[in-house]
Amino acid sequence: MSAAEARAPGPAEPVTAFRLRDVRQVRGVRTLLDGISLDLPRGGFTALIGPSGAGKTSLLRLLNRLDDPASGTVELFGRAVAEYRIRELRRRVGYVFQTPVMFAGTARDNLEAAHRLAKTEVPAVGDARIAALLELAGLDASYADRPAADLSGGEKHRVSIARALTTNPDVLLLDEPTAALDPEVADRLMHTLAQLRETTGITMVMVTHRLREARVAATYVVMLEAGRVVEAGEAATVMHDATHARTRAFLQAGEGDAA
Ligand SMILES: Nc1ncnc2c1ncn2[C@@H]1O[C@H](COP(=O)(O)OP(=O)(O)O)[C@@H](O)[C@H]1O
Ligand SMILES: [Mg+2]
Repeated sequence: MSAAEARAPGPAEPVTAFRLRDVRQVRGVRTLLDGISLDLPRGGFTALIGPSGAGKTSLLRLLNRLDDPASGTVELFGRAVAEYRIRELRRRVGYVFQTPVMFAGTARDNLEAAHRLAKTEVPAVGDARIAALLELAGLDASYADRPAADLSGGEKHRVSIARALTTNPDVLLLDEPTAALDPEVADRLMHTLAQLRETTGITMVMVTHRLREARVAATYVVMLEAGRVVEAGEAATVMHDATHARTRAFLQAGEGDAA
C-alpha cells in the first residue's frame, strides 16, 4: 500500500479537510473576512487566489489557529479546530510561512528541533528519516549538514517544508511559498509540492498570486476578494470557465504573469 493510499479517506471518513461556516475576522473596526463558508477537499491541492489585501493570509492563519475567527466555525476532518489540543492540531497541520525563518544550526538541526517542539510520537528524525524528509522537499541528503543560514532562498523554503513534514502532518498550509523566488526556482518548488501531494496524499492549501502555479498544481481553487469568497470550485472548472466576472478579470489580468 502506497503512502497516498494509506492516507486516502476510508468509507466512513470525511472527504472534506476544512469546513468553514460563516467565518468572520476583524481587526479593530476593519472586517478582514466577511462570512466565509468553504469546504476544502481532503487530499486536494487548494489554491487560494485573489488580489493583495483580499484576506488570503488572514484565512490561512485560521486553519491551524495562528488566529481564531471573530465568529463562525472552522472544522478539520469533522471536528472544530478549537477542540483539538493545540499541539495535536499543529502537528497535523504544518504551516510554511512566506518568508522562511531558519532555526540556528544545520538543516538537520532544524528538522530535529521541529520534531522535539512537536513532542510527536512519529519516529525520531534519525539519518534515514532526515534524508527521506529532505528528499520529499526536493533536497539531497548532503543538505543535512549544511548551515541553514547559508542556504539560498529556495533551499530555505525546501528546508522549511521538510521541517513542516517531520510530524507527518495531514495538511500543509503554504503562504505564497514562491513569492520571493526566481521563476525557475519557483517552478521547481511547485513541481516538488505537486509530487509531494501525489506520493503522500497530504492535503495542501496554498496562497498564491502566481496563476500559472494554480493552473499547474491546484485541484481546487478559491478566489477571495475584499474578505469574501467570489468563487470556489474544481480547478479545471474555475480556471477554464470562471463563473464570476471578477474571477475572469483576475485570471485574465494574470495571463502575463512572468511566473
Ligand atoms: N493584524 C492586522 N491588523 C490590521 N489589519 C490587518 C492585519 N492583518 C491584516 N490586515 C489587513 O487585512 C487585509 C487582509 O490582509 P491579508 O489577509 O494579509 O491579505 P492577503 O494575504 O490576501 O494579501 C489587508 O487590508 C491587511 O492590511
Ligand atoms: Mg498574504
